[in-house]
Amino acid sequence: DWTMESFIERTVEDIKKQIGDKKAVCGLSGGVDSAVAALLVHRAIGDNLTCIFVDHGLLRKNEAEEVMEAFEGKLGLKVVKIDAKDEFLSKLKGITDPEQKRKIIGNEFVRIFEREAVKYGNGEFLVQGTLYPDVVESGTDTATTIKTHHNVGGLPEDMKFELCEPLRNLFKDEVREVGLKLGLPEHLVWRQPFPGPGLGIRIMGEVTEEKLEILRNADAIVREEIINYDKERKVWQFFAVLPGTYSVGVMGDDRTYSQVVAVRAVGSEDGMTATWSRLPYELLDKISKRIVNEVDGVNRVVYDITSKPPGTIEWE
Ligand code: XMP
Repeated sequence: DWTMESFIERTVEDIKKQIGDKKAVCGLSGGVDSAVAALLVHRAIGDNLTCIFVDHGLLRKNEAEEVMEAFEGKLGLKVVKIDAKDEFLSKLKGITDPEQKRKIIGNEFVRIFEREAVKYGNGEFLVQGTLYPDVVESGTDTATTIKTHHNVGGLPEDMKFELCEPLRNLFKDEVREVGLKLGLPEHLVWRQPFPGPGLGIRIMGEVTEEKLEILRNADAIVREEIINYDKERKVWQFFAVLPGTYSVGVMGDDRTYSQVVAVRAVGSEDGMTATWSRLPYELLDKISKRIVNEVDGVNRVVYDITSKPPGTIEWE
């Protein structure tokens, strides 16, 4: 019968058999799937596993530091952090079309991951956090892609690694359980979905360092306030968006002309459909006041009251 302990034991044995004393690499995104896959493989083969964490500079406030602290620090994995911020930003210069941004970020990600993976993995094994629903879904052609979803750690077609996919038979809730058993911190086990292209698709128009800074600061406030309010994790995903619109405001005796920040919060089961969250006015008021007071360059906050369909969760 299926218990967490027996699953972990069995899987670790299987991985030992599969990989032996060869080398493996795993792309870490900070998401729960890649994290749990990496932890299982680490149990099996120790430091013959190298985790590669590509920081594309489009992560949320403090996210890269938190990922390193958890995986390298607390969990003791061997993690190589690739600081690729400049490479990504220069590729994104002048690009405003959402799909083009996604493509550039996705391609760049794969290119850098491939380059680093070859260095550390000897071209032997690639660990992926593929779940059972992914296995089923990719076996059919029915999945329609409204947006080209690039998943961090996705396998480049011409890569010659052998795959190790220890989560192939699991559903998301089981992955979370295994994660908790293996010591993954709660905030990573319950991390809300975060798109591969990151803040790049939450900034409308061209992505610049200046806009990233504004969005990171506003988003940190949105997350802090909603996490604090939503103890039962009823809100599925919540974040700030920078629509690229300017509006007039007043501050003391002065007229301001600054950026608008949009707040997005939705309830959902699987991201396919979503309902905008009926957050209390008091909470929205607090978020709005804090953003305008604490984030330079923002003088107005709006709340997105569009469900999916007809909207999408992300703005791009
Ligand atoms: P949309 O915006 O399509 O989002 O309603 C549905 C879910 O998918 C996430 N999302 C992405 N995830 N790469 C990803 O890995 C992407 O390009 C991407 N676009 C959207 C989104 O955050 C939501 O959870």
